[in-house]
Amino acid sequence: MRQNIVAGNWKMNNTLEEGVTLAKEVNEILKANKPNCKVVLGTPFIHLSEAVKAVDCDVIGIAAQNCADKVSGAYTGETSAAMVKSTGAQYVILGHSERRAYYGETNAILKEKTDLALANDLTPIFCIGEVLEEREADKHFDVVKTQIEEALFHLSPEAFGKVVLAYEPVWAIGTGKTASPEQAQEIHAFIRQTLADKYGAEVADNTSILYGGSCKPSNAKELFANPDVDGGLIGGASLKAEDFHGIIAAF
Ligand code: 13P
Repeated sequence: MRQNIVAGNWKMNNTLEEGVTLAKEVNEILKANKPNCKVVLGTPFIHLSEAVKAVDCDVIGIAAQNCADKVSGAYTGETSAAMVKSTGAQYVILGHSERRAYYGETNAILKEKTDLALANDLTPIFCIGEVLEEREADKHFDVVKTQIEEALFHLSPEAFGKVVLAYEPVWAIGTGKTASPEQAQEIHAFIRQTLADKYGAEVADNTSILYGGSCKPSNAKELFANPDVDGGLIGGASLKAEDFHGIIAAF
C-alpha cells in the first residue's frame, strides 16, 4: 500500500539553532495531534544529525536535500549518501528543479545519485516537473516521462519500489501559482500509468507521488483529495510549524 506523505523542503533557510527549534515545534505539534500521514523534514546538511535528535515522534523522518553523485574522495564541498545516512536521516530529496536549474544536475547525474542513495538505504524523494514554456507548449507529459525514464528506469522493480516521486511544476514553485487539482490529478495519473507500463500495476499502485508548488493549508485538502496525489513536497509553508501542520492536517 502506498503511503501518504507530507514532506517539507526547507531549502537554504534557517541557522542550525532556528532549524532545531522548528523541528522541535513540528515534533511537539504532531505528538499532540497524531497525523494521518508520514511527515518528513528536508533540512540543510548541517542540520541533519541535530534534526534527527530533535524529533522523537515516530511519524517524522528526516531528509537531506541532495547528495553527491560520487561514493567518496577528492570532491571538495560535496556530501555523500553514506554521510547523509550516518546522520540518521532516512530520506534524500533528489533532482529538485533548483538543483537542475542552478547546479546543472542532469538526468544522467541524478541516475548516479539515485543509485548511491538506494545503496545506502536512503529513500529518494525524486523530483520531476516542467517549466512554464513546456507546459504552454503542451510538452509537460513528455518532459516528466523523459526525466523518469533517464534517471530511474534502469532500476529493478524492487529498487524502484523504494522511490518516492514528487511532481513539482517549476512554474508553481515559490510563485503562489498552484496547479489546479485537475491539472495535478491529470499529470499524476499519467505518471502512474508510465510506471505501470514499465513495472506493472502493482509497483505503480504502491508508489507515492507527491505534489509540490505553492502548496499551503488553504489548498492542500483539494490537492490531496485526488486519487493519484499522495501528499505534498512543501517549500515556503514548511518554514512555519503552524502552516506546515495546516497542510499535514489536510489528511
Ligand atoms: P513552494 O512550496 O515554496 O512553492 O516550494 C515548493 C518546492 O520547491 C518544494 O520542493
